[in-house]
Amino acid sequence: MSQDNLYFIHMTDTHIKAPGQKNLLNLDMTAKLRAVFAQVKTLSVKPAFFVISGDLAHEGDTADYQHLRAVLDEETADFNAPVFVALGNHDHRGPFREGYLGQTPEETAYYFEQTIDGLRLIVLDTEISSEGEKVEGRLDAEQLTWLKSVLATPAERGTILVLHHPALPNALRLLDDHLLTNPDDLAEAIRDTDVIGLLSGHIHFSSVGSFHGVPSAALAGVAFNLDPTTATSMRFMDSSGFNLGMVRDHHMIVQPMMLPGEHREVFRWEVDSALKPVAEQPVAIPDELQA
Ligand SMILES: [Fe+2]
Ligand SMILES: [Fe+2]
Repeated sequence: MSQDNLYFIHMTDTHIKAPGQKNLLNLDMTAKLRAVFAQVKTLSVKPAFFVISGDLAHEGDTADYQHLRAVLDEETADFNAPVFVALGNHDHRGPFREGYLGQTPEETAYYFEQTIDGLRLIVLDTEISSEGEKVEGRLDAEQLTWLKSVLATPAERGTILVLHHPALPNALRLLDDHLLTNPDDLAEAIRDTDVIGLLSGHIHFSSVGSFHGVPSAALAGVAFNLDPTTATSMRFMDSSGFNLGMVRDHHMIVQPMMLPGEHREVFRWEVDSALKPVAEQPVAIPDELQA
């Protein structure tokens, strides 16, 4: 018998800051996050849950996470749907645990599983925090072992994995140094399991592919987006995206949505090698603008 549709909202890269602090590119990330929720409220379907795939905060201070939690609690009150979050390279585990979870500020990796109406969501932590600020990601051995043990038992509707760093490169090979560095380990962990999709962020534009037969989507950010207009520049855009997800009969469908707006250019990064693979031509994005 065919299953009912289960809907969810995937957001990524909110890069939020507590009130009173200067925002990246002078954009109001809190207003942008609230605008996404306002748009979601206009949809004809109701999400069973929300998930945010990392770079929750830009600086990752405890106050940023307290602020994010307050905004999310307020914005989701009308939905009666939980919010799940993953950590990205801009996040800091200790302040996140203290400010968002109300726990002691431990630096341990933040990963978990949760089943919603038969769909299993597995949130992974691909941040490489022990080695300082890194744009690439990695799944450590402990998480991989845990992941395999969880996936040994299938879920009724299948499983979606959420990880900040994409497992796949994009077609233009932009930001090749921003990917998961051990995708083969992930492929091994999910082989012959019930995983029906991977959701990522980090690159701030949409790129969709098949990862060993599983749909993998890295999607537009809430805070800002990147537009590779020409071979010699990349534009930082004041735009916000989110994604309407649907699960039915062990299929995941993700529909990218952009908020109405000007899609205004707020910064242009000129670089001769913008579209060449990093392996050929190392590129340097200013630290402040790292995704
Ligand atoms: Fe990121
Ligand atoms: Fe980001």
